Formats: sequence, C-alpha cells, structure tokens
Amino acid sequence: MVDPLGVGLGLALTLVVVVLHFSQGAERPIPDDISQQVIERRAATVPETDFPEPMNRSIGGGAVAAGAVTAGGAEAEGELGEAAEEEVDDDPAAIPDDEAEVFEVEYVKEGTTIEVKENETLLEAGEDEGWDLPYACREGQCISCAGHIADGGNSEQYVKHYTNQMLGEPELDDGYTLTCVAYPISDLSLETRESP
Ligand code: FES
Repeated sequence: MVDPLGVGLGLALTLVVVVLHFSQGAERPIPDDISQQVIERRAATVPETDFPEPMNRSIGGGAVAAGAVTAGGAEAEGELGEAAEEEVDDDPAAIPDDEAEVFEVEYVKEGTTIEVKENETLLEAGEDEGWDLPYACREGQCISCAGHIADGGNSEQYVKHYTNQMLGEPELDDGYTLTCVAYPISDLSLETRESP
C-alpha cells in the first residue's frame, strides 16, 4: 500500500531541489573573459631580448623582421654564394679530367704503382683497379678506409683531405690518411688497411 506521507515528503524534497537548482543557476555570475589578461600577464614575464625576434615570435613585428632580412639579404646571399663557390673551388673532385694533374701512387700491399689523378681519391683509384679496399661512410667520418703514407712526414704533404673529421694533427703527422677523401697532390706510397 502507498504511504501518502512518504509520497508527500518525496514530492516536497523534489520541489526543493528543483527550486534550489534554478535559483542558483539564475544567480551565478557569468565570469569575465580573462584570456587577454592572462596573455598580457604572461608576455610581461618574458624578458626583452637584444636581438630581433624571429617573425613567428615577434608581436606585430613580422614586417620589421622581414624587412631586416630583406635589407641584409643581398649581402648575406653574396657571402653565401662566395662560400659555396669557394667550396666548389676547393673540391678536388670538381677539377675537370683534362686539367687534372696525375701522380704516381704506389699501393705497397697490392704490389702495384698506378697513376692517380688529383681529382680522384686514393680509394676510388684502388677500386678502379678492382681491389676490394675497406670503407664505410666515404665522407671522412669514420676510419674504415684509413691507410698510411709510407714516405715519411705529415700525410697532408702528399694528399689533400677534402673532409676529415677523424684524424687529428698527431695522426696526420704520423702519415695516416683517410683514403676515401684523400686526393693526391704528390707522388706517394700508400699502405692500405692501416689505421692509427
Ligand atoms: S670510409 Fe669513413 S672515413 Fe673513409
């Protein structure tokens, strides 16, 4: 059987909850949009720099940064161009075949002396002979291709290393070379498969 007192109490409670819900909802203040304040406050904590901000970081300064780049652009481009040109000039591989000087290189362990042009590396020249010489990076960044110049003195008296990121002055003084980036500048005797 339904208890009328219980039903009445239930209805009364429901009514109270509904009234409270709507009265609070109507009175709750809508918060202000503070996102701009937050952005400004954060910006104020970033220290000023002495250098121009990159375009993507400067506030309203994109045009200035772009202008600065444009103003210095021609000069920078000129310098870059010269650097690139120098690099090409500096690359023995860029010497045309018909202008390249030829040197006598004795490959001691292979028992042969061959002619190597100043625009080819000791490694390439040996490979052209069909010898299975060691190498890995072919960029002067490891030591797999190392060899020893047996003529005495610093190896750079005999070869130009186009890049050499492995051999320091003591190793060069001992006659070691990275054959993958070593271009002859003189006759020489090479012992392949020799590392410091
Ligand atoms: S193969 Fe790596 S330095 Fe020559």
